[in-house]
This record gives sequence, structure tokens and C-alpha cells, in this order.
Amino acid sequence: MSGSGFSLYLSNPLKIKTLVSLSPIMIDGTGMCGSCRVEVGGETKLACVDGPEFDGHQVNYELLMDRLNAFKKQEKEAQQLFEDEEMQKCRMKEDFERMEFE
Ligand code: FES
Repeated sequence: MSGSGFSLYLSNPLKIKTLVSLSPIMIDGTGMCGSCRVEVGGETKLACVDGPEFDGHQVNYELLMDRLNAFKKQEKEAQQLFEDEEMQKCRMKEDFERMEFE
């Protein structure tokens, strides 16, 4: 259980008002990209438009985590490509040398 998950686990039965900030899931912050879409109290919200703070007991974390993990495989592949030294080499010089000029 994450730190915030544990806090919610403790605060819910005690009826302690608990706000969570969903700003980390925002990308453009303009309401245009939809990356921060979240279900709160059964309603669809955008963290950047309607939040970013929400009642922590009303957020559908299961749906949120599913969405955050939707592209995990592609993100991992992209990270591996980024870290690959061969991929980081500049190929412009090789391309330039292959070009024929008259
Ligand atoms: S951050 Fe893009 S829609 Fe909210």
C-alpha cells in the first residue's frame, strides 16, 4: 500500500476529511489533452480544470491506476531506446558523408 493509500485507509473510518492532489497526472494543464481525467464520486473530472485537489475518499484509484499503467510497456521500451548509447549517436555526419554533391 502506498503512503497516500495508507493515509486514506486510516482516515476513512475516522471520517477525517482528506484531500489528495492529482497534479502529478497533469500534462498540459489546459483541459485539452485529457491525461488528467479521473473519476471522483462517480463523476468524470479533469484534475487541471476541476482540481487538482479532490476528496481523497471519492477518487476511483483503481480506474486511475489502470489508466496510468495503460502504456507502461511502451514507456519502458521508449526508455530503453533512450538509454541505448547507439541510439544517442548523432548520425548526421554519416548521412552527410553518404550524400553526393556535384
Ligand atoms: S492536464 Fe491535460 S487535460 Fe488536464
